[in-house]
Amino acid sequence: MASTQKSPPNPSWYWCRWQALRGTSGSHITIPNADLRGKWVIITGGNNGIGREAAIRFASYGANVILGCREPPPHEKHPDVTVVDCRAAAEAAGHISSTIEWWHCDMADLATVEAFANRWLATGHALDILANNAGMSRTSSGKLTKTTDGFEIVHQVNPKIPNR
Ligand SMILES: NC(=O)c1ccc[n+]([C@@H]2O[C@H](COP(=O)([O-])OP(=O)(O)OC[C@H]3O[C@@H](n4cnc5c(N)ncnc54)[C@H](OP(=O)(O)O)[C@@H]3O)[C@@H](O)[C@H]2O)c1
Repeated sequence: MASTQKSPPNPSWYWCRWQALRGTSGSHITIPNADLRGKWVIITGGNNGIGREAAIRFASYGANVILGCREPPPHEKHPDVTVVDCRAAAEAAGHISSTIEWWHCDMADLATVEAFANRWLATGHALDILANNAGMSRTSSGKLTKTTDGFEIVHQVNPKIPNR
């Protein structure tokens, strides 16, 4: 039997804008400090963007931080720069013996991902936090691009959410 229920009306443009802007004022954002001394953090795509900011924050909390990065194109911030900035943040917070390094890991080349994982396993450290952050929203050409592994590049590079 066909339903006689009417769909609710579409929300107004103003309501949608208001919802979209909620929480975007920096004056309302508070992030509690954490004590991550002795913890090990891997953050992929940590040289730039949100990953870089997170890496600097982790470092200031005393964590040992490994950035998993590709050799970026020249217009992007090089991981060396972010390592320097993470060390500065760590030292400013009194953490002078943290390990902060970047290791090569190009999500568009699975051999480098495997090499990264093996290098990590060889350290024998427990992994306390994995920030699987590296990602891209689209290819610059907008055309179908395949990686050397044969996968569509956006599909391969972006963080995967495991099936539940
Ligand atoms: N910002 C948003 O509104 C938003 C919304 C939804 C989801 N996200 C997701 O959140 C994550 C961070 O976003 P963002 O805004 O900080 O992006 P971003 O500024 O573009 O940074 C992306 C990071 O991923 C790295 N990356 C790209 N391709 C890579 C590859 N093949 N191998 C290794 N690293 C690679 C980039 O390195 P290079 O410097 O070498 O390019 C960069 O460090 C991404 O996964 C993004 O899809 C962001």
